[in-house]
Formats: sequence, C-alpha cells, structure tokens
Amino acid sequence: MDRLGETSWRIDFTEVFNYGVLCHALATADNLGLFDKMSDKGVLSEDDLGEGLFVKEIASLLLAAAIFKMGIDNASYVAGPAFGEAMSLKGFFTWLFLGSGHVLVEATTGLDEASPRMGDVIGKATADFGRNFIDELLLEVVRQRSATKLLDIGCGDGSRLVKFATELGVSAVGVDLSPKAIDVALAREVRTSDSSEFTWICSDVLSLKSRDPRLEGVDVALMSLMAHDLWPESNFHSFLDKLPHIAPSIRTLIITETVRSTADPAAFLKEGIPTVGYEYLHSAMDQYIPTELQWLSTIDSAPGWVLAEAKRIEIPSNTVVMVLERT
Ligand SMILES: C[S@@+](CC[C@H](N)C(=O)[O-])C[C@H]1O[C@@H](n2cnc3c(N)ncnc32)[C@H](O)[C@@H]1O
Repeated sequence: MDRLGETSWRIDFTEVFNYGVLCHALATADNLGLFDKMSDKGVLSEDDLGEGLFVKEIASLLLAAAIFKMGIDNASYVAGPAFGEAMSLKGFFTWLFLGSGHVLVEATTGLDEASPRMGDVIGKATADFGRNFIDELLLEVVRQRSATKLLDIGCGDGSRLVKFATELGVSAVGVDLSPKAIDVALAREVRTSDSSEFTWICSDVLSLKSRDPRLEGVDVALMSLMAHDLWPESNFHSFLDKLPHIAPSIRTLIITETVRSTADPAAFLKEGIPTVGYEYLHSAMDQYIPTELQWLSTIDSAPGWVLAEAKRIEIPSNTVVMVLERT
C-alpha cells in the first residue's frame, strides 16, 4: 500500500483546477433550474437559458463535460451522455459549492450567520440527493416498524416527512431549528398532502418539554443527516435520555448518518461522493464527524436503547442507517 505522500498515481493539477470551476458551474446550473428544465422539456433554447454571459459560460462548461450537447439546429442544447448521472448527483454539488460556499470562504475569517437564502439552497440540495439515494431504503425500514405517528427530528424542508407520512397514511410531526425550513415545510404540506395530519415545530429538539402534547402518540422517529449536530457523546446521550420524556410512546429511532471515513489517508481522494467534501466542510465549521465505530459504541453505552439493525447506503458514501429500539 502507498504511504501518505507517496501515492503511485499523480494528480493532473490543470484538470483539478478546471474541474473545480465545473463544480461551481454545475451547482449554479442546478440552482437556475437548468437541469429540471432539460429533464422536463428535453431541449433548452437560448431563451430557456436566460440572459447574460455567465449562463452561456455555464452552458459551455456543461457541453465540455458532455452533460449537454448541441441540438441539431446547432443553437439549442439537449442532454448529453453524462446528463443522467449529473442529474442524480447534482444535489451534492449544489450543497457544497453553492449552498456552503460562504462557509468555506469565511472559515478562516470568522463565520457570519448563514444567509437564509443559502439555507434554502442547502435544504433543496440535500432533499434532492435524499430523494435519489436514501428515501427508498429508508421508507422500507420505516414501513417495517409499522408506525402510527412519525416524528422527523431536523426535518429540514419537510419533503421526506410529507412523502413518508402520506405514503404510509400516518400523522406526523416535524421539528427543526430553522424557521425558514419550517416555513418551507408548511407550504409543502399544503401543496402535496391531502390525507395525513401534520404538525410543524420550530425548535431545538433539546429544548422541547417533557410530555409535549404535540408529540403525543409518536412511536417512530427519524433523524437524518443531523445526529452529528448532537455530538459530543455526552450530549447525544442526554438527547437519548430525554427523547422518551418528550415523546413517551416512542419505541424506535431511525438515525441516518454519514460517518467519518476510515480509509487509508493515501486513498482519501479516491473516496466516494461526498466524503471528502463532507468532512472538509464540517471541519471548516469546527464540527466533528464521528466514525461508525464511535456511533456504535455510543449507542451501545446508552441506557434504555439498543441497536436493532444497521444498514449501509452506498451514496452518500460512508452512510449508515441505524435502527434503535427502546429496551
Ligand atoms: C443536513 S440538514 C438535514 C435535513 C433533513 N433531515 C435531510 O435529511 O435532508 C440538518 C437539519 O437539522 C436541523 N437541526 C440541527 N440541529 C438541530 C437541533 N438541535 N434541533 C432541531 N433541528 C436541528 C438543521 O436546521 C437542518 O435543517
């Protein structure tokens, strides 16, 4: 095996630089809705692209990456051979290179409050890759638990909760710190659900009071891509202690979490998407991402809970679904 700094493969720095620019172009194209438009219409005219040199530059980069190709009229764009893959992975690019851009820029100068617009971009991007890669497996795990009332802790824009509760025909409660996320969730519920009953709570989950009437009857809780926000271990244990007081009927907590890679450092740049960016971004925010082993030992030493099942998800890389049951 290669020692650190002595890898047998070599980076082409020119390509790395150009791909860095492509990352931003891809994220911006997603945020401008160009992927969705292409997917809906099959072709993008100059008018669809909109005004300005920058959009043309973005389209040129997508052409160079074979995400787009020129239409037969040589003026419009159609999907290129790489379009499908870019369409399904675009959320990762938007989350890191657009939504989190200010964090990376400000990491060394001190963080300002994240702009609410960026919160929107991030919420939409994580929901996009969640839909493409996580939700099918997660819904099956939830279905097997026969929930009657679902709780989503750190529900973000609420899209997963609305989809799952509607699919399973159960009522649901979403909790999130972010007022913006809860606003988006409320609007989504009005648009998409006709049968399930929803409650949205804007709060830190750790600040909810014992026997909160809004959580009465909740028997299955989800916590996706946010358990690391409750790290360190002692804080996470306090949360696990508190959860049955807040929601006394709870019997299952399903945690989906991207864990720290344990790859040999020399192989780190060969890790799957988004490991390298995920760990880099969280360290820029001074946030530690625990390893799978750290999560398993934390759960193992938590009184009142036992790990009933753990499943790996291939994308996002290093992601584990951990099903905890109350003992
Ligand atoms: C990475 S996002 C994940 C959103 C969604 N669960 C998903 O999988 O797409 C993490 C969410 O957790 C929320 N969050 C973080 N800490 C929280 C806390 N202590 N209480 C409630 N929500 C929290 C954030 O506001 C954010 O919306």
